[in-house]
Amino acid sequence: MKPIQISMIAALLALLLFSAILASRSIASKSSIERTIKGDGFAVLELFTYEGCSSCPPADELLAKVQKEAGNRPVYVLTYHVDYWDRLGWKDTFSNADYSKRQYQYASKLNAQVYTPQLVVNGKTEFVGSNESATDYAINSALKGSPKSSVNLHGSLQSGKMAIDYQVTGDTDNDELVIAVVQKNAISRVKRGENEGRTLAHAQIVRQLYSFDLESAKKGQVSISLSKDFNTDGWELIGFLQDPKTRAINAATKVIF
Ligand SMILES: *[C@@H]1O[C@H](CO)[C@@H](O)[C@H](O)[C@H]1NC(C)=O
Repeated sequence: MKPIQISMIAALLALLLFSAILASRSIASKSSIERTIKGDGFAVLELFTYEGCSSCPPADELLAKVQKEAGNRPVYVLTYHVDYWDRLGWKDTFSNADYSKRQYQYASKLNAQVYTPQLVVNGKTEFVGSNESATDYAINSALKGSPKSSVNLHGSLQSGKMAIDYQVTGDTDNDELVIAVVQKNAISRVKRGENEGRTLAHAQIVRQLYSFDLESAKKGQVSISLSKDFNTDGWELIGFLQDPKTRAINAATKVIF
């Protein structure tokens, strides 16, 4: 009799323990749901950086970490390599004059200087891109927002092109639809300039940037041509609605394709 009683007690204990684990699990999942429904906001992080700038690698690393930790949250990381430091002895192969121009437009709207590494969040605020506490604060404030518009993007891949069906809600008449074609990762060996001899890891590099006037259309289709390097595993497309006058970003999403 004794061994049976002991095993029954053991089974009872195991059952108690199991239900305690289940209970703690359901509490954990409830609080994580609460966390995600707290705000409907989104955060578009635009970093202006350059391979030949010695203060840029810490910002690149921070943004790579933000990207990694974003999970399913609506946090969109874009890094733009500017071209105005090309004269400092190293030509950044990802640099593009359009991205420098974009940074100047932000600086003028935000009454800010133009520098690298500069981070702009939702087109509304800017600070030094390696400042982790400022970045965390800006992301959390952005996620607590309640956007008045939304955008949905579905792409279909054709040879060298993507046709993107868009659907928007809210007051979007003055907004542009901006589509960034993003290479998720790259490694560069820098041979000259301030970062001479360093191997840099880049994340979320904007390789192409398109913008379209929506006028008053709530849905429609736009078509973009894709870089020859494009592949579906290592690249993604991020789209957002931006007011070209204020530069504020009013909604953002990934292109599903
Ligand atoms: C980082 O940002 C915070 C908040 O804006 C600011 O108080 C702090 O001085 C900044 N740190 C550095 C190193 O610039």
